[in-house]
Amino acid sequence: MAKEYGHYDDAAREYVITDPCTPWPWINYLGTEDFFGLISNTAGGYSFCKDAKFRRITRYRYNGVPMDAGGRYFYIKDGETVWNPGWKPCKTKLDFYECRHGMNYTSIEGRKDGVTAKVLFFVPLKTWAEVQKLTLTNTTDKVKKLKLFSFQEWCLWNASTDMENFQRNFSTGEVEIEGSVIYHKTEYKERRNHYAYYSVNVPVQGFDTDRESFLGLYNGFDAPQAVLEGKPRNSVAHGWSPIASHYLEIELGPGESRDLVFVLGYVENAQDDKWESKGVINKRMAHETLSRLDTAAKVDAEFKRLCEYWDNLLQIFSVKSADERLDRTVNIWNQYQCMITFCFSRSASFFESGIGRGMGFRDSNQDLIGFVHQIPERARERIIDIASTQFADGGCYHQYQPLTKRGNDGIGGGFNDDPMWLIFGVCGYLRETGDFSILDEPVPFDNVPGSEKSLFEHLTISFDHVINNLGPHGLPLIGRADWNDCMNLNCFSNDPDESFQTTENKTEGSKAESLMIAGLFVFSGRDYVELCRHLGRNAEADRAQKYIDEMVVSVEKYGWDGDWFLRAYDYFGRKVGSKENEEGQIFIESNGWCTMAGIGLKEGLCDKALDSVKERLDSEHGIVLNNPAFTRYYIEYGEISSYPAGYKENAGIFCHNNPWVIIGETVRGNGKAAMEYWRKICPAYIKDQTLHKVEPYVYSQMVAGKDAFRPGEGKNSWLTGTAAWNWYTITQFILGIKPTYNGLEIDPCISPDMKEFTVTRKFRGATYIIEVVNRSGAQRGVKELLVDGSRVEGTLVPLAKEGSTVKITAIL
Ligand code: BGC
Ligand code: NOJ
Repeated sequence: MAKEYGHYDDAAREYVITDPCTPWPWINYLGTEDFFGLISNTAGGYSFCKDAKFRRITRYRYNGVPMDAGGRYFYIKDGETVWNPGWKPCKTKLDFYECRHGMNYTSIEGRKDGVTAKVLFFVPLKTWAEVQKLTLTNTTDKVKKLKLFSFQEWCLWNASTDMENFQRNFSTGEVEIEGSVIYHKTEYKERRNHYAYYSVNVPVQGFDTDRESFLGLYNGFDAPQAVLEGKPRNSVAHGWSPIASHYLEIELGPGESRDLVFVLGYVENAQDDKWESKGVINKRMAHETLSRLDTAAKVDAEFKRLCEYWDNLLQIFSVKSADERLDRTVNIWNQYQCMITFCFSRSASFFESGIGRGMGFRDSNQDLIGFVHQIPERARERIIDIASTQFADGGCYHQYQPLTKRGNDGIGGGFNDDPMWLIFGVCGYLRETGDFSILDEPVPFDNVPGSEKSLFEHLTISFDHVINNLGPHGLPLIGRADWNDCMNLNCFSNDPDESFQTTENKTEGSKAESLMIAGLFVFSGRDYVELCRHLGRNAEADRAQKYIDEMVVSVEKYGWDGDWFLRAYDYFGRKVGSKENEEGQIFIESNGWCTMAGIGLKEGLCDKALDSVKERLDSEHGIVLNNPAFTRYYIEYGEISSYPAGYKENAGIFCHNNPWVIIGETVRGNGKAAMEYWRKICPAYIKDQTLHKVEPYVYSQMVAGKDAFRPGEGKNSWLTGTAAWNWYTITQFILGIKPTYNGLEIDPCISPDMKEFTVTRKFRGATYIIEVVNRSGAQRGVKELLVDGSRVEGTLVPLAKEGSTVKITAIL
């Protein structure tokens, strides 16, 4: 059996790490709304409020050596031994170590020489602060005298200038110290109206706020001079590098235990309310927050509220089957990851710096389907934010900044799949909530006041953006790129200083068309038609349907390569993803989307395409993106051919788009294949944690493909559309519980050996308990549907009265 670094504790909804030397830092996320933190299993990571770039609270060093240096550190000096509860940074050998990552909290426990130190990290609901509750216990029969140092390093707010503008930064740092609270107020004097603070709920015996004084210039986090000597410097940062460290002398009697509450908080003051007196910041709001969190009992009550919040979120959809791995994925970790991707989009992880990308247009629309059942009101807000960055012609900003909610000029628009994702996201929202009022909301273009049109009109122009941008084969022009933003068919870059994402050295006269967008257009275009019909807008539905029918014809005529769907036509109108190509003969995206859309299902095209995917793209760890992998740079394809074979968009296993093929398999009723593919990429089924490397409890964006040096190695964990797509796939297409405008549709597509399962689903105010019975060993096809004991024709369970509980039996 391969080495394991931890295990699941499903009853507690935790992943328990028992060895601090995981093959990569295994992280978790704190915070639900504005105040957020990333925390590794050794207490590394950082915090920010609202925006990881512009409101960074604590500093982090990326890509450092060793990995994951800096974080929320507690140093315990017991005699001559110095240790940390999370093993790092001193790496003193512990007698016991355990890290429990739970739903928006992490608890880390270390034991050494008869002392137990357990720290619970979380952000209380509706609070701009992170709590670190440290419990110290003396398990010996002698008195223990300990010296305790806390440590946080402040970031100078803008995380990118923090890393580069030292000629200024080294002279701007400012702090205030008031009792046990250390305030960080760099730049508060001028244009900032925010400060941060770090406190402990008991009097301190010393402190440090200047990094060099605390560490010593030539020491690392593993050997701070102040700690080694057991003497704080009581330093005051003035310029240089401000930090916050408390010093406490603690005496514990035999068996005695003590709780200490540390709080890392953030405050924004009104412009005319910034100061208490000249040069002294107004601390009222910090005091208020601290008084809510100044005892262990108050902190425990807040923690209980956070756990109840998660109880509520996770009881909306749950499954009970014979497979505990399926259950824990659906009931806990997949839903949790969806919520995290909603909060962070692609901004801050151990693979994303928090500086580069804001919120993606397509990313955020896809993320919606992963959490809309849990917090529909925030999905509503998100939809309006996203749609407000659309242009009047239906194109959209590719990204926007969470703090300003404005489109990001640096990247601009021109990704021609983006508009269709708005239809995808909005229809997902409407099916879940039935809140059609959102369609009447006035939504601006590019956030310009006065330009508002209803959200419904935004959907229409999204649809039309595709038909207004068709290429020579009647297929959608790709623009900068489609979902695969590394297939840059108009880029033609020979200059390493150009960005593949934003450079278009050719576009004028381009013939580059995308079969992926074609499939998406048919799939989500039908959603648009269905919505129009539901609203009684039949003329619009007919108009749209006509274009969809035409697209199907174009795909069948020009998008079929004999055994699979082509991927694209390039700038010159040459085939991409065809037998005629030397490399990159077959791609996952177009075959996923066209089979999802059932294009050519009757004529056998879907069967053929899916069989080809199986034959050419499937591998031990999942379906690779393309095959054969590119082994040289193709200037006409761009970034995709820049990656080594087997990585990322060049034949990596993109866990994000494996679900498209899985859904395609359900379209042809092959539940066995669908579930086999799903298990290959689902973290709960990982066999070798050392090989997989990244967290075994969340999906990663990609896993090294069969052409890589180490196939099976995961990368880019956490923030990826993979979370939402797998959620959508397992719940709506495999377990087959689909929200629709008129009720819940029950149409599972499962392995024949899955004999039964029960789903509890809260939907539009009622609770549905759905028992699926598969004694016949079928893969798909509900033979009998009983709703509260009475037989219903078809697969639709009509909407039940609010507050009621409905019992459903579906027999396959
Ligand atoms: C990555 C993509 C990503 C894109 C945009 C590329 O380098 O490979 O996965 O979507 O950058 O940031
Ligand atoms: C990551 C991006 O966030 C996403 O939008 C894109 O579709 C994939 N990479 C594939 O390139």
